[in-house]
Amino acid sequence: MAVFETHSQDETAALGEQLARTLSPGSLVLFTGGLGAGKTAFCRGMAHALGCTDEVSSPTFAIANVYRGPQPFAHFDLYRIHTREDLEAAGFYDYLDMGYIVAAEWSENAADILAGEDAVRVDIVRTGDNDRRITVEGGAL
Ligand SMILES: Nc1ncnc2c1ncn2[C@@H]1O[C@H](COP(=O)(O)OP(=O)(O)O)[C@@H](O)[C@H]1O
Ligand SMILES: [Mg+2]
Repeated sequence: MAVFETHSQDETAALGEQLARTLSPGSLVLFTGGLGAGKTAFCRGMAHALGCTDEVSSPTFAIANVYRGPQPFAHFDLYRIHTREDLEAAGFYDYLDMGYIVAAEWSENAADILAGEDAVRVDIVRTGDNDRRITVEGGAL
């Protein structure tokens, strides 16, 4: 487990870049932390490091945003996902099988379903207006 403190959105994105460089095709990154924690900022950094040039935004309404690049990246929002069938229907397991890097915001909403997954788990806590404590478990950071 590694714990980091960031003091800006850019520092959080930079940590996302660092983590992405340790991942391989089919890696799964599960985020917890409430609205405005910085999950999407972290994913923006990941996409940049993976060479994806598509714009990164919260996939709240789409459930999944897919970013093209040398290492494709599927970015999920599990806010409205509560069952394994929901996850399957959204293509979650297909993207993993196809070798995408998969990241999921609001993984706490599907915690039971994802409990057994081999994943890097990233928790972001707001400790101040511009301060975040970011805990990374199961990764190489
Ligand atoms: N250290 C920080 N890391 C990430 N975001 C920060 C930080 N400090 C302030 N912010 C702000 O918090 C918000 C995070 O938004 P976002 O990444 O969309 O969060 P989430 O996806 O978790 O809802 C942005 O408005 C960003 O500018
Ligand atoms: Mg978000």
